[in-house]
Amino acid sequence: MNVHLRTLLLFISTLYLTNGQNWDITNDIKDIFEDKTEDMKAFFDVQRSRVEKALNTGYVEAVKMKDSVSSYVDAQQRKISADINSYVESVKESSRKVADTWSYLPIEEPGARMEQPDLVLSVPGVIIRNGYPCETHTVVSEGYILNLHRIPHSKNNKDVPKKTVLLQHGLFASSADWILNGPEKGLAYVLSDAGYDVWMSNIRGNKYSKEHAWLKTNTKSYWNFSWHDIALHDLPAVIDYIVSIKKGDPNLTYIGHSMGTTILFAMLTLRPEYNNILKAGFALAPVVFMSDIKSPLKSLAPVASNIAYMEMLYGSHEFMPKNSALGRISSSCNEDNMDSMVCKNIIFYICGYNDKQFNKTLLPVFMRNLGTGTSWKTAVHFAQEVKSGGNFQQFDYESNNPRVYGAPTPPEYDLSKVTVPITLFWSENDLLSSEKDVQMLYDRLPATTRMYKIADPEFNHLDYLWAKDAPTLLNKKLLEYLDDTYKTGIGGFSISFNIGK
Ligand SMILES: *[C@@H]1O[C@H](CO)[C@@H](O)[C@H](O)[C@H]1NC(C)=O
Ligand SMILES: *[C@@H]1O[C@H](CO)[C@@H](O)[C@H](O)[C@H]1NC(C)=O
Ligand SMILES: *[C@@H]1O[C@H](CO)[C@@H](O)[C@H](O)[C@H]1NC(C)=O
Repeated sequence: MNVHLRTLLLFISTLYLTNGQNWDITNDIKDIFEDKTEDMKAFFDVQRSRVEKALNTGYVEAVKMKDSVSSYVDAQQRKISADINSYVESVKESSRKVADTWSYLPIEEPGARMEQPDLVLSVPGVIIRNGYPCETHTVVSEGYILNLHRIPHSKNNKDVPKKTVLLQHGLFASSADWILNGPEKGLAYVLSDAGYDVWMSNIRGNKYSKEHAWLKTNTKSYWNFSWHDIALHDLPAVIDYIVSIKKGDPNLTYIGHSMGTTILFAMLTLRPEYNNILKAGFALAPVVFMSDIKSPLKSLAPVASNIAYMEMLYGSHEFMPKNSALGRISSSCNEDNMDSMVCKNIIFYICGYNDKQFNKTLLPVFMRNLGTGTSWKTAVHFAQEVKSGGNFQQFDYESNNPRVYGAPTPPEYDLSKVTVPITLFWSENDLLSSEKDVQMLYDRLPATTRMYKIADPEFNHLDYLWAKDAPTLLNKKLLEYLDDTYKTGIGGFSISFNIGK
């Protein structure tokens, strides 16, 4: 689950509402973090001058000083965690009330700041601004009009690449995931420079794939899908389209982040013929089994899995739309001020603390571009995964299962059907994709599967998208593995598919 800040803010903000507060939650949240932030700032101001003095007196003194600063920071982080945890506990007792607070509340879009063009440009705009070519392609699946962004060749080499990658973003995200880290670091650019034809899909309902051929976006039928439907219909349609553009032989590898991996594995089990079309699959921060998520979001699964309630509240519009109450809070993350520390703290708390890889300059752009909703059913489906404590299964309609599946429980996705070579990238500090769950996935996949641990022990769930050291921590290894795939055919296939057969 790519937990975008909007969600995080929303989930957290709901906690405050259960305290009998009204809609003005922005201040409640800010208070907690700002209190701490003010403390920290004052502390750092004093420390800075002491460190400067200490540096003049000797190295040993300076090191001591540095240690005392980091233990202070740790203590502050622990305090923040404790505060939020106590709210999470109180929420468990009033779960229904929490769901109520997720209701829709339109507000004005905050104005974008022109000095950072990436704040206002769409994905193709940003790509072209960086000197790369970009095309938009449209695929229609079950009436949903899906827009794919493509970098057909690199900046400096106009030859049509012989190798193709499809990049699939995660929850609450878009194709922007792959470019926001800029030309040297963003995976889409890096792959383009390495000679790949790069395609980035946008899932149905996100801001680039919002239109539908006959359904209006304010209807229950439009939002009646989870990632299951994307895996069953949309991803196959996208792959078929790429195959047709590439004249039958796409040399295609799939790279997914977070929910992008969920969709991959669901598709490979529901439509096993696609095992023969893909050359390999790369799963960054895999989300398949969710028995061991460490994030505090876990506590909210019992609430979020309440089908009747979620459908009532979100049945006919986007789940967590940009202009909802949480949009109000996250808009404050667009400003280059103290609030960005508030946002940072929330991200770290939910996704794992990693100051080293956090690029503050990117925060507003990241917030702006990744804000996009999904369906209530997607949220419920994930909550069910968490609640089930380790099942990878279809949507649970509870008492309606017999009508839908002809059985009292939903079918599991049969991972033994996966035959394409898979590489799983994981990290120790990913609170949403734990070692235990990734290992469980690894154990169910074929012998060709590889598992790669990111070398930074603090790398978190979102660092795959914006880490300062993406080139050394992620991109280098990924390119190496991709090279293997195409050179030695490790997991490779000698063109073993037939279009339309
Ligand atoms: C697939 O990629 C390999 C490695 O670059 C290349 O040798 C081969 O010609 C490609 N196949 C097609 C059909 O482009
Ligand atoms: C939603 O989908 C389910 C199963 O696919 C179907 O039974 C139901 O009628 C649909 N509901 C709406 C409002 O389209
Ligand atoms: C942080 O992001 C900005 C904006 O993309 C970029 O110019 C800068 O080089 C990045 N800093 C680091 C240390 O990666």
